[in-house]
Amino acid sequence: LGAGALGIAAYAGRDLLIGKKATLASGTARSQLLIPPLYSGEREGGERVFDLNLRHGVSQFFDGIETPTIGINQPYLGPTLELNAGDTVRMNVTSDLSETATVHWHGFHLPARADGGPHQPIEPGGSWTARFDVRQRASMFWYHSHAHRRSGPQVYQGLAGMIYVRDSASEALDLPNDYGIDDIPLVVQDRAFASDGSLIYSTRMHNVMMGMMGDTMLVNGIVEPVFEAKSDRLRLRLVNGSNARFYRFGFDDGRSFHQIGTDGGLLAAPLPTDNVVLAPGERAQVIVDVSDGRPVSLLADGLEIMGMGNRGRGMRGPGPTRDSDRPVDNWMMGERERRDGMMGGMMDERRRFTVLDIRPAASRRRAIAMPRQLATLPQIDPGDAVRTRRFVLDMGMGMRMMRGGGFTINGKSMDMQRIDETVRVNTTEIWQVENASMMAHPFHIHDVQFRILDRNGRAPEAAEQGLKDTVVVYPGETVRLLLRFEDYTDPDLPYMYHCHILEHEDAGMMGQFTVTA
Ligand code: C2O
Ligand code: CU
Ligand code: CU
Repeated sequence: LGAGALGIAAYAGRDLLIGKKATLASGTARSQLLIPPLYSGEREGGERVFDLNLRHGVSQFFDGIETPTIGINQPYLGPTLELNAGDTVRMNVTSDLSETATVHWHGFHLPARADGGPHQPIEPGGSWTARFDVRQRASMFWYHSHAHRRSGPQVYQGLAGMIYVRDSASEALDLPNDYGIDDIPLVVQDRAFASDGSLIYSTRMHNVMMGMMGDTMLVNGIVEPVFEAKSDRLRLRLVNGSNARFYRFGFDDGRSFHQIGTDGGLLAAPLPTDNVVLAPGERAQVIVDVSDGRPVSLLADGLEIMGMGNRGRGMRGPGPTRDSDRPVDNWMMGERERRDGMMGGMMDERRRFTVLDIRPAASRRRAIAMPRQLATLPQIDPGDAVRTRRFVLDMGMGMRMMRGGGFTINGKSMDMQRIDETVRVNTTEIWQVENASMMAHPFHIHDVQFRILDRNGRAPEAAEQGLKDTVVVYPGETVRLLLRFEDYTDPDLPYMYHCHILEHEDAGMMGQFTVTA
């Protein structure tokens, strides 16, 4: 199809038309949730060794329809890697892909050479070894492609997996801990499919600007799965593995639950709530009680991330329920934009998804009491900060963006040859992130788990007071982060900071910093 004939401006690659988008799910029998295999590696000497193979595969997301995908040791996504704090691990990654890829350990504190960012490419047929000590607190992390300008399409096709880090403090708590039984990893990804079953990945301007979104919800690679609960209390570990879509999760009957963890670890204490908001890259752990024996669905509203009207508003709002019909909250799109219809054709990406139907089994393991305290969070003293760095996120509009130069941090588009910031090891800094654009951006920093100091001068809400590696910055907002740089230095090899909307990252909303002695 000629792009010109369709009146579409810059239209690259083997993209398919949104107009051809098919809803393939209707009429298909519901599938059971698939739990990715738990992979603990092999002990060799003092190391825990993992063999990971990147490969093309074919997946069946819909009955009898084959979809070309990418996976790690399997056709789509990869195994859940199980690591213990204190382990020394060796990741042997081989690639049978037809293009250069990388594997990045999102959320990990490790040497830059082991980070798996764009400076550690794995060529087709090639291999890469990463060796590092596990210095994380217990939490769920994830691994995914970080290939230069190709993270979006590679993650979209399946190059991602989850990582469980365990430590003795969290194992000693009375929390559901039986992988796949009452401790359930959920990677949430929206996807668009063409009528032949292939994934639609479009680099039309609209999809680059808004990020690539789909109308079909995949959870661990299964369309709207069903899960049979054999326990009264479930621990759900959510990762927003979508390229661009933000979600607000909640249960269809409005039941409350507890959030127990953020990106990089457990909260100090369980937080009662009825909703959790996650932008791409963010994670949360929640505990839900199903002891009433009634089926319940985890829903997610895909949130609108455009508009100046939400300037300065808080993140939280009521969770989606069966009876609430509006998948978009005012705070996500300003009243002005809503009234004037200013965003016109941009508004078609809002939707409500069913993430997981939970059906309690007739006989279930009894609930254990929720611990009152979960963790003692490391304290970083803002008074120790040696400096404040500013990061201004922007999206140029018009011709500049169409030429690909519009996605910037501090006015600069990502350049692999340029080190943007140099920090000193064993120092504390404040990073002040300002959003000068019309869209919300999830700002992610490699190598550190940081704390949110304030949003527009106000203390973060309880759900954001834990360890974070990705933080949403809403239009017009200024968010200050407190970071401590430790252990690893390299004068030449940088870590990344970037927007975790992968199309924005690929389009240049990324910068590089080194940590030096
Ligand atoms: Cu999850 Cu730099 O990435
Ligand atoms: Cu990362
Ligand atoms: Cu962005």
